[in-house]
Amino acid sequence: MTCLDRDDGITRSLQKQKVPFHEPGLQEIVDRGVRDGRLSFAGAGGLDGVVGSADVVFVAVGTPQGEDGSADLSNVADVARQIGRALAGEASRERPLVVVNKSTVPVGGGDYVSALIEEGAGGQGIARFEVVSNPEFLREGSAVHDTLFPDRIVVGADSRGPLEAMRALYEPIIDQTFPTGLDPRPRDAVPFVRTDLASAEMIKYAANAFLAAKISLINEISTLCELTGADVVRVANGIGLDGRIGSRFLNAGLGWGGSCFPKDVSALRAAAREYGQETPLLDATVAVNEAQHKRAIGKLRHHLPDPRGKRVALLGLSFKPNTDDLRGAPSLRIARSLRSLGATVIGYDPVAGKGAAALLHGGSKVVFDPYEALEGAHAAVLVTEWEVLRGLDPNRVATLMRDPRLIVDGRNVLDPASWREAGLRYAGFGRG
Ligand code: UDX
Repeated sequence: MTCLDRDDGITRSLQKQKVPFHEPGLQEIVDRGVRDGRLSFAGAGGLDGVVGSADVVFVAVGTPQGEDGSADLSNVADVARQIGRALAGEASRERPLVVVNKSTVPVGGGDYVSALIEEGAGGQGIARFEVVSNPEFLREGSAVHDTLFPDRIVVGADSRGPLEAMRALYEPIIDQTFPTGLDPRPRDAVPFVRTDLASAEMIKYAANAFLAAKISLINEISTLCELTGADVVRVANGIGLDGRIGSRFLNAGLGWGGSCFPKDVSALRAAAREYGQETPLLDATVAVNEAQHKRAIGKLRHHLPDPRGKRVALLGLSFKPNTDDLRGAPSLRIARSLRSLGATVIGYDPVAGKGAAALLHGGSKVVFDPYEALEGAHAAVLVTEWEVLRGLDPNRVATLMRDPRLIVDGRNVLDPASWREAGLRYAGFGRG
């Protein structure tokens, strides 16, 4: 397998066998692939040669949010045209090249890619190819696990041949026969969902929209829990055991961020607008999520009405644990709000600290020890539930902080009783 990227920095780093971002377990897989001679890296200039010798090409470039909220497909278009140029030089192929769209594209994206491959060939004869959609469901921070042990593999195509080629490619994962030290494996085969191109493309958006809506719903319930004296953690446990609801993605708190949920929900709403269709549920999903960071600021101001000149620690800066990704990270937004209120912000993160320091300008500081961030702080917000933060010692924290010694638990992961017993004020989301 050859992986190409037009970013020379990324390619060079991978050629030196160094994964340029934080993703647990990925370095070991890259090391093994290179050592066994099955994995190599090249710059985008090598695309012609790679396409020429490939049976399958995965397009896995970014589709960021465009200015109007829709998915920006320019990266996908560039790659599709390049594939077209490479195929134009080829006389014929025994089997058509399978072009797999891993990038998240709106329904119709696969047809668009086919058209651009033809366009890239510039009217010359072109070797046979077929475009399939194979949406990606891995979560950052558990990407290796989610890839090897997926809940399902979805492939959409409008003809049978490429579906069978994809089934063969994924066979070691479907049957769980690949070599790994990551046992135990699930005993059942991984479901391989064959569907049409449009449905596969919609499955990706629908999955992310559904999960984002689920989180926003539990967040709305958490507000009602606060008003009524119920505890949303207990409520989530009580409803999650209902098989129809499921216990995952029911953690109330600061809401969803990252590089996928925000842009994909936005792209789905934008696509609906093009059809003149309203999306009241998706609109509310976004509105509830945007209110979460304001709820955190409200909790701070309840105990610290005038934050001017006060020190506030932000614990965890990446958008979720086990990644250094800061895209859509609630920490950045909270830091901005706090600075505009005149507070001094001290951020801590075990891996994203350096990246965050570059984004948090004036009036903010980043440190590399959570207790250092808490020293002299009047208040703290636990933004990202890193393991190291779940394990903070409340008694030690109490001796370091200054009144009102407020902890806003933005992910409901601390034990309120032990933090209160240590002499701290504890405010979670929807915890009575
Ligand atoms: C998501 C999808 O889960 C994945 O299938 C898709 O391929 C890419 O987008 P990712 O963004 O990496 O993955 O992280 P995920 O674990 O889904 O979390 C997304 C956001 O939701 C994070 O900000 C997380 O903190 C938040 N979240 C998650 C909650 O607020 N509550 C929860 O219960 C779960």
